[in-house]
Amino acid sequence: MAAHARGLTAERKPGEDPRGDGAAVRITGLVRSFEGRRVLDGLDLSIDADEFVALIGRSGSGKSTLLRALAGLDHEVEGTGRIDAPEQVSVVFQDARLLPWKRVLDNVVLGLAGADAEERGRAALREVGLEGRERAWPVELSGGEQQRVSLARSLVREPELLLADEPFGALDALTRIRMHGLLRRLCERHRPAVLLVTHDVDEAIVLADRVVVLDRGHIAADITVDLAGPRRPGTPEYAALRDRLLGHLGVETPARQERAESKARSREKP
Ligand SMILES: Nc1ncnc2c1ncn2[C@@H]1O[C@H](COP(=O)(O)OP(=O)(O)OP(=O)(O)O)[C@@H](O)[C@H]1O
Ligand SMILES: [Mg+2]
Repeated sequence: MAAHARGLTAERKPGEDPRGDGAAVRITGLVRSFEGRRVLDGLDLSIDADEFVALIGRSGSGKSTLLRALAGLDHEVEGTGRIDAPEQVSVVFQDARLLPWKRVLDNVVLGLAGADAEERGRAALREVGLEGRERAWPVELSGGEQQRVSLARSLVREPELLLADEPFGALDALTRIRMHGLLRRLCERHRPAVLLVTHDVDEAIVLADRVVVLDRGHIAADITVDLAGPRRPGTPEYAALRDRLLGHLGVETPARQERAESKARSREKP
């Protein structure tokens, strides 16, 4: 692992992987505070190379704070703990953050070194279905197309770790479903470790190998998605997992209410 350690207690040298367990990311005892309030309170999390982890949690639970720490984008924030993460990290945000004065291809290859940068950029745009739009301006693209450019820009760098903070949150439902398929195919091909922050429990189930729930500064649940067959709503296994995750988010579903009522009824029985 081409790792580098971040945080105030970093001790390991880059490139070392003492446990040799193939983890791409190891976070230990991570603390992040704002104005004395601990948002992340000694958080531990590992992500294997190739693994797709979805991070869910209530609004304000610290998901973006964790992602920014992992991306090394929070140098001004006070905190301790240790982060071992790969050198090659790409980040995708909810808005595509394209430079409006640069054409699509120039946005994708911005800062990319090597004589073949342009060819790689073109190939990445082909992968996200935007062949022929290389010379368009960002403003000429739809929201979904802009987000596809943002994905191309991330993947052309062949990241070992892809961080995504609600990348499809601003898209309509149909475009979001298409983007799920695209992201899954791209990840199967490029095999980065992924941490995807999402509000959408279905998005987490459809895409991830593991879903982790952030609550009160810790990982409150860490659930492997091991559904047999296609991950489609409607199967009992899917519904049970969805219900369980919503429970961790404090959302009451009819199934949970029904179970609680039936438990209460059985307690009342003489
Ligand atoms: N720069 C900052 N200064 C002060 N407080 C901050 C800052 N960034 C985040 N916070 C606080 O930290 C907490 C966690 O914020 P964060 O953005 O990580 O939550 P989140 O889980 O991503 O929420 P959401 O789902 O709404 O995006 C919030 O209470 C937020 O107000
Ligand atoms: Mg957030």
